[in-house]
Amino acid sequence: MNTRALALDLLEKWEKTDQFLAQILDSCCKQKKLNEKDRAFLQELVYGVLRWRPWLDSVIKKSVKDPQKKMSSLIKNVLRLGIYQMVFLEKVPIYASINETLNLLRCRVKRGFVNAVLRNYDRSVGEYKLPSSEEGIPAKIKDYLSRECPKVDLTPVWESIQKKPLIYARWNPLTGTRDVLEAIWQQENRKYQCVNESQGIYHLEKIETNVETWPSFQKGLFTIQDVYASSVVSHLDVKEHHKVLDACAAPGGKSFQIATYLKNADQLVALDVSKKRLDNLKKAALRLKVDNIKLVEGDAKKHVFLEKFDRILLDVPCSNLGVLNRRLDVRFRFSQKQQNSLIGIQREILENMSSFVKQDGIMVYSTCTLSRKENQDQVRAFLKKNPNFFCSYQALNIPGHEKGDGGYVAILHRSS
Ligand SMILES: C[S@@+](CC[C@H](N)C(=O)[O-])C[C@H]1O[C@@H](n2cnc3c(N)ncnc32)[C@H](O)[C@@H]1O
Repeated sequence: MNTRALALDLLEKWEKTDQFLAQILDSCCKQKKLNEKDRAFLQELVYGVLRWRPWLDSVIKKSVKDPQKKMSSLIKNVLRLGIYQMVFLEKVPIYASINETLNLLRCRVKRGFVNAVLRNYDRSVGEYKLPSSEEGIPAKIKDYLSRECPKVDLTPVWESIQKKPLIYARWNPLTGTRDVLEAIWQQENRKYQCVNESQGIYHLEKIETNVETWPSFQKGLFTIQDVYASSVVSHLDVKEHHKVLDACAAPGGKSFQIATYLKNADQLVALDVSKKRLDNLKKAALRLKVDNIKLVEGDAKKHVFLEKFDRILLDVPCSNLGVLNRRLDVRFRFSQKQQNSLIGIQREILENMSSFVKQDGIMVYSTCTLSRKENQDQVRAFLKKNPNFFCSYQALNIPGHEKGDGGYVAILHRSS
């Protein structure tokens, strides 16, 4: 199995379709039945190339004879893969990076061109140095976030975006104690560190294999959830007797958390517009032994409930600008047009769902974006139109400044 050739195929496919990188990678690994080592190398190559693409492209431009001459997407991706390996993969010698890259091409003329560009680059660098974080991020994203967050020091944000994301596990109290979880991890030889004692959140370190294949994961002893995402549910202040609605629920990370606070069946309703995503939620619920969630497929912009809820969580679809280190697609596919459409959806979800909050009940609005328009502005407009609600707390989690992913949360109370 030539992993580099697979990486080239995936990069080409990603560019020519609107599929997410994670989806393409996952289905390729399953289809080709890749072992853990090949899977990890493939992921390193495709994620690495996309993470540093603007910088790789600037290097390519400087290393070709005629920067104005148009290059096919295939040749560009071959060059990106070559330079990525030369600069970032210390264990691969430079000559091997160049030779393996040339092996990706059959055509003699194309090989000659790629060979010349890579060797030009090698001659010009002298000593290999890693680029700065900022150089890896598309200008469009940097400009947009600079405008949206004028008071934030963005240097730590760029640094956090360019790092590989940390993986956090949340202990599942429904399948055993934390002692049981830790004992099994020790048997499995896992490296972990508890980062939140009260909620049982762990940073999983030095992960060498796909977490979903771990027996402890398959037994439902824990779930993967970012440390910031785990904190959002606490703002709902759920009590044992509450009736709760999670209105944008799939894939279910926050529903599973809420479910552990509630004792009886049907106290928690999980609504989502996507059947496919609800099916995934159902599968994960089985694994985690969560059996007190009522699933409803429907559109939160217009769905009508015959009952009211003590607590409603609106973890709305958003531009994902707070999770740029995990969702590499976003940095290339973000558009103002798509954002405007999301803002409309968020507004309608807020408006419709607010009518199902009981008097003195709480609705938590949350996103994983740093954009003011989807966060503070959205909440301000809602409160202006709905004076029977007030906001007791709002906060922006900024990656690089605070732990975990970026996101926004607002606690909205219904007073009458
Ligand atoms: C940010 S994700 C929610 C993540 C989830 N709360 C969790 O913690 O796992 C947003 C979800 O909203 C759903 N969604 C998008 N538009 C919707 C709508 N109009 N009504 C209900 N759900 C919607 C998407 O299918 C997606 O599953």
